[in-house]
Amino acid sequence: MVLDDIFLDLSGFIAGVDVLLKVEGLNPAGSIKFKAAIGLIEDAENRGELHSGGRVIESSSGNLGIALSSVCAARGYRFVCVVDPNTSRHSVALMEAFGAQVVTVTERDANGGFLQSRIDYIRRRLRQEPDLVWPNQYANPANPQVHYERTAAAIVKQGLEVDYLYVGAGTTGTLMGCIAYFREHSPRTRIVAVDTAGSVTFGFPPGRRYIPGLGTSRTPEILDAGQVERTVLVPEDEAVRMCRRLARERGIAVGGSTGSVLAAIERHRGDIPSDACVVAISPDGGDRYLHTVYDDTWVCERYGPLTAAPDAAACGTIRQAGPALSALKG
Ligand SMILES: Cc1ncc(COP(=O)(O)O)c(C=O)c1O
Repeated sequence: MVLDDIFLDLSGFIAGVDVLLKVEGLNPAGSIKFKAAIGLIEDAENRGELHSGGRVIESSSGNLGIALSSVCAARGYRFVCVVDPNTSRHSVALMEAFGAQVVTVTERDANGGFLQSRIDYIRRRLRQEPDLVWPNQYANPANPQVHYERTAAAIVKQGLEVDYLYVGAGTTGTLMGCIAYFREHSPRTRIVAVDTAGSVTFGFPPGRRYIPGLGTSRTPEILDAGQVERTVLVPEDEAVRMCRRLARERGIAVGGSTGSVLAAIERHRGDIPSDACVVAISPDGGDRYLHTVYDDTWVCERYGPLTAAPDAAACGTIRQAGPALSALKG
């Protein structure tokens, strides 16, 4: 069962813009990737590549790996997930709980990320073990197709006149599926692609990134950049600040990529009419980020003190001040 019709009203959270958050974190396996996992596995089954007792290998920074672990367990397939050091301990433990074998690749690729290294590892394994099935979420049209059929269709079925849809880009499966569906069924909707600063997906220079979900160090094959009208790059510290503000002010814990998407809307708020219907897709909840996005020490070590004030206190001082980084509220 997929939960495709949960929307949270975030009116008043971003000044002047009423945002509806499409919540995907309550799906089985805890993210939007449950739908992608089902789409990819059914595609391999339908093409006759995957048979009873078969073996699947995939590269994932977390959520697809968890979702494929879950779907493979339920359908009797063995699963090898190739992750990197940015994948949280929690995600690895969850994959292993579903019976997956987890392999961590530690060598960075030419863009400073791990994606190409993970894919190179898979190619080596496929040469040695040809029975392994690689769904290849970055290149497989079944990935955008499932978001065309489910994610995008579920938004349009709400009967909303959506003016702006903000979608995070990782593999770009959600983005490309939404662009295709909205072009046919709601051409008035402006779709905004949200990526992380340091991601090369849309041709921007590579940079260090720590939060899984958005961004790539290698352009995904399923991306058709000519279809993407508007792109916004959000630095990770801005996404983190947004996640933590939403938790403190609304009691809603979301994952890092949801913080990026909301930060993108905040950046655009001067251009969005106040009566516009704005929908943002929230790929997962905050539980998987308690030791990263919501951990004061982790945040300070990577981004420094998260404050707008020029005379910001040192990380240690902020931590002493209490669990909340109070400056985040400013
Ligand atoms: C938390 C999170 N946000 C966003 C995305 C991006 O989704 P897509 O791969 O469809 O672009 C992912 C993909 O793994 C994700 O895990």
